[in-house]
Amino acid sequence: MPIVSTFCKKGGVGKTTFLGFMAHYYAKSGKKVLIISVDDQNSIFKVFGVENKIFDVNDNYLEFLLANHKDMGDILIEARENLYLIKTLNSDKLSLKLTLERTQEKVLRKVLDEYSDYFDYIFIDFPPSSSRLSEVLLDMSNVILLVVGLDSLGLGGFFNTIQYFIDNDIDIEGIKYIVPNGYSRNRRAPRISLEKLEQQAQEFTPNAVVLPALQERSIIKNLQSEGISPFDDEIKLASTYDQAARDVLLDDLKEIFKHLSL
Ligand SMILES: Nc1ncnc2c1ncn2[C@@H]1O[C@H](COP(=O)(O)OP(=O)(O)OP(=O)(O)O)[C@@H](O)[C@H]1O
Ligand SMILES: [Mg+2]
Repeated sequence: MPIVSTFCKKGGVGKTTFLGFMAHYYAKSGKKVLIISVDDQNSIFKVFGVENKIFDVNDNYLEFLLANHKDMGDILIEARENLYLIKTLNSDKLSLKLTLERTQEKVLRKVLDEYSDYFDYIFIDFPPSSSRLSEVLLDMSNVILLVVGLDSLGLGGFFNTIQYFIDNDIDIEGIKYIVPNGYSRNRRAPRISLEKLEQQAQEFTPNAVVLPALQERSIIKNLQSEGISPFDDEIKLASTYDQAARDVLLDDLKEIFKHLSL
């Protein structure tokens, strides 16, 4: 029951997308999966087309559980078979509590431990911004996947993240995988960025495995706009073009996930 997180200090690099795909892949293989969103945007709900569930009940979120106003089962939102989501709506307040009350960290740890009894995996989706909540949860994560966008700004995200870990005393060894995202065979910039990233990873995160790069693929955005995950492979897509593109993406993802040992 490891805690698995995707992280990067840069926004919009694919943290939520990759985490959602990974979580669904494991859920489809029969594992019980929980995704905790500590991003108030809760964009992971969009990956599964359940954003209507963000505000359908107003008190079923993580902060309510930690304040003892809710039970563990009350805040789980089912997104797919074997796949549950937990949202946050006021993570700033929770961060402040974690800073001011030392016992809160223990409460948070206990909650995660208890969920671990029910779930095979706990995935955590982080925002790029800094907060006490992120620091504490990153520290509790057993496996961190650092998602890096393959352009010059994306590479900056790699360094910012390493710096952030050092500044906040978070163990860099927790970064077990680097996920290069946005590769394109036909463009020079992503190819060069990938080479640079591999060099940087060797120097700064030598124990992390650099996964095969995820390609830039428009089908990812198309599926997300419809709330369909590529692992919803029983859903037939309207156009044969999309159908073929989804199959290619599925093969890509399965190939990448083969390298994971979570
Ligand atoms: N390989 C890819 N090809 C095409 N589009 C992608 C790819 N990866 C992610 N995207 C798209 O990029 C956008 C940003 O992705 P995502 O929300 O996963 O990033 P994030 O790092 O979680 O962002 P934030 O920092 O805001 O949380 C989304 O619209 C997503 O569909
Ligand atoms: Mg995100």
